[in-house]
Amino acid sequence: MAHQWIFSLIVLSCALYSMGVDKNNFKTCDQSSFCRRLRAVKPGESKYEIDLDSLQVTDNSVDAKLLNTEAGVLFKFSLTAINGNIFRIQVDEASPLYQRYRPQFALNGEPQVSKLEVLERSKDSVSITYNKNKVIIHARPLKIEFFENGELVSVVNGRGLFTFEHYRKKQEQTNEEGQENQVAEDPGAWEENFKSHHDSKPKGPSAIGLDVSFPGALRVYGLPEHADRLALKTTGPGGVDPYRLYNLDVFEYELDSTMAIYGAIPVVYAHSPKRTVGVFWHNAAETWVDINNSKDGNVMASIVNLVSGSKSENNVDAHFMSESGIVDLFVLMGPTPKDAIKQYASLTGVHPLPQYFTLAYHQCRWNYNDEDDVTSVVQNFDISDMPVDIMWLDIEYTNGKKYFTWDPVKFPHPDVMIQNLTATGRKLVIIIDPHIKRESGYFVHEDSLSNDYYVKNKDGTVYEGWCWPGSSSYLDFYKPETVEYYKDLYSLENFKGTTHDVNFWNDMNEPSVFNGPEITMPKDCIHHGGWEHRDVHNEYPLAHTYATFQGLINRSPNKRPFILTRGHFSGSQRYTAMWTGDNAAEWSHLAVSYPMCLSEAIGGISFCGADIGGFFNNPDIELLQRWYQAAVWLPFFRAHAHIDTRRREPYLFADDVKNRIRNALRLRYAHLPLWYTLFWQHEITGEPVIRPLFYHYPTDENVLDIDNEVLVGNTVLARVISDPGVSSINVYLPGGANEYWYDIEDFRLYHGTGNYNIPVSLDKSLAFYRGGSIIPRKDRPRRSSSLMHNDPFTLYIALDSNQQASGYLYIDDAESFEYKNKKYLYVRFTFEDNTLKSELVDKTDYPTKEWIERLVILGPPKGVKSAKLVSKSLGSVELDAAYSNEDRILVVRKPGVSIREKFTVKLYF
Ligand code: GLC
Repeated sequence: MAHQWIFSLIVLSCALYSMGVDKNNFKTCDQSSFCRRLRAVKPGESKYEIDLDSLQVTDNSVDAKLLNTEAGVLFKFSLTAINGNIFRIQVDEASPLYQRYRPQFALNGEPQVSKLEVLERSKDSVSITYNKNKVIIHARPLKIEFFENGELVSVVNGRGLFTFEHYRKKQEQTNEEGQENQVAEDPGAWEENFKSHHDSKPKGPSAIGLDVSFPGALRVYGLPEHADRLALKTTGPGGVDPYRLYNLDVFEYELDSTMAIYGAIPVVYAHSPKRTVGVFWHNAAETWVDINNSKDGNVMASIVNLVSGSKSENNVDAHFMSESGIVDLFVLMGPTPKDAIKQYASLTGVHPLPQYFTLAYHQCRWNYNDEDDVTSVVQNFDISDMPVDIMWLDIEYTNGKKYFTWDPVKFPHPDVMIQNLTATGRKLVIIIDPHIKRESGYFVHEDSLSNDYYVKNKDGTVYEGWCWPGSSSYLDFYKPETVEYYKDLYSLENFKGTTHDVNFWNDMNEPSVFNGPEITMPKDCIHHGGWEHRDVHNEYPLAHTYATFQGLINRSPNKRPFILTRGHFSGSQRYTAMWTGDNAAEWSHLAVSYPMCLSEAIGGISFCGADIGGFFNNPDIELLQRWYQAAVWLPFFRAHAHIDTRRREPYLFADDVKNRIRNALRLRYAHLPLWYTLFWQHEITGEPVIRPLFYHYPTDENVLDIDNEVLVGNTVLARVISDPGVSSINVYLPGGANEYWYDIEDFRLYHGTGNYNIPVSLDKSLAFYRGGSIIPRKDRPRRSSSLMHNDPFTLYIALDSNQQASGYLYIDDAESFEYKNKKYLYVRFTFEDNTLKSELVDKTDYPTKEWIERLVILGPPKGVKSAKLVSKSLGSVELDAAYSNEDRILVVRKPGVSIREKFTVKLYF
């Protein structure tokens, strides 16, 4: 009987499995000839040497010739120190046959070099210093060691896997047969499976690779986007495929996987309780990264490694392999997670402060059918007293999938529809994809053909692929004229029916090509400048959203653009928010939303979310409720659903379900001032808005693998509940006995001493305020965030073990760039000696009407009888103070003071 059961389970899981991703559509490392070649490089036999005689040292760089001793080919090597404790290593061919591609959009300007000093030069090595860092460049073979404060923290080419395939003349390529067999594109089995792909490489092999080791590290994080845990797993020949970075539209992506999906961010952080070091591999071509993390507890992987002998023993390292481009590696010296992540942000930029409403609730579906549907959805939210800020329109609003047009039957009066929406304080987001329908008479297509705006085939003809509209061509965002044209398409004159309150969703920009190799553009397509698509592939969505961003700035110069993208690359955060694409209505997909967004956040992209409810299939009611409760604590808060799913707007459910979802929505709206303040801080400091536990508790080994909890700033700890039917949940609360955590619903106090098992009914979600924080909230329920702008604040003052707390509040006009002209308020609150104080951090002003309605003190001192406010305009005012919730909180009523004014509130006993 039991056997039958197990058999049925196996059959069932196979059946479920076959509903998921079709792996035959996507390459493994073995099917990628360059990945295979680079993975086959033998450790310990590096043939690359620095010619120390050629060494030149300037104030901020070390330059030398690098020699491939076997092939007799010369390369240019340089090492520079970059402001903020970063090193940069660049290697390019000394006399290339063809230029090699350098990404154009990822960096936020050219990194500023810093002064370095030569410490020692010998016949084998040179060592240099920069701040507390030292670098030793060993010449024979090439090996670069990085020390922080005297300790070895990272080694480049320590395993000897450095590879730089140089371009060679055709003649040379075919003459060297033995060699060639190893290096030429060898389609093999791959070609048989993928007849349609054009993957040959006219210029010959040009892959690059290197290994970076991290002595002493225990975990490696990073490399978004993967539907995987936060801590990266060990990969290696015979074991798990390397993490693949190649923007792809993967239908029904699988979880716990190193397969590529929509985004590609080649940054890793190696971490131990002692330190964090990062490396950023600045390359836009297809990239695979083998991770060795023999300390990750992955027994299987360790056995495979032992047997295959292919890994360095007991070390943590990463092996980067890219198909083309140059070696451009940034070493982020840390030494804390915060430092390393900020160093990455200093290179690739931050998300500029978004408009306030973008942090509120977004209601999306593929599709809202027509204008009446849009209007009635909003009305139903109002009737059910549930807040919503943004309605979304998917591809069906267009006239036959022709972007920048409206369906004349379903959306005949978009201006009226939008006017009705914005009159109630709501906004609209509509979709614009980068593929263009090839239909004669369609103005975008005609213009693009006649002005040569499209990506080309290798023979110079316009590339044609299949996407939502059917036959389509793809705008070449590498061509300045295309970008100029595209920017104008978004203008109010050109895109009739839109207004300043319409924002945009750029989807399918990996780019997705339904009949292309691996559902994307062939690598031998040609972009402006003669670059092959293979060189720029991962950067294409960034080039797309950069053009959109410029278009929106031109259209509405004083409104901060909001764009949502699916494809993304390092630096995308400067222009867009992103979401995790086509997830499914499954508990496991709810669970993975936390690690996926955490990984994006440390990869520079804080504005991340996952489709609430799951895109494919219909969530059961419990899953839907839990999803809303968990999504409150991710930055981008949007429900979305596939066209084939049942309607699931939250007002459609029974009262108890509606109550729970309403509570989740209201909790989000109450915390909008916190989110907004964190985004402002993100812009000025580079700190991510959400953070994994190791960010604030780097010395705690217990948090290394925790990714079902997220820190919102350093203030809130939220735990996703991603199992059905649970009555209690394990939560890890970090920081030790003196770290206090308050349940934000019942204000119960927990100490940061580790694991708690906490009862959870369906009504209960799990979030905690860190003792020591002051959280500004707006607790009056409203229908949209714009109706809350003048509402008063309640300050939640969560006391630490010393009865102290502090926190910040940022306020401005919520939409314009006037904050760059000092039109904002940045207030710091502190509580000590039983007194709350406010002060302005910067000498700025914003004429707001907001005021303070209430103080809620968590973990209050005993015996308080009253309180007194003192401010310039109000003088001295007696205030009521009363305990509640079994004395877990003290509520001080009606301070009534303007948020612009300095004040104190003192407690009296
Ligand atoms: C893609 C998007 C999805 C969208 C659909 C139709 O699958 O990921 O969110 O609804 O395209 O535009």
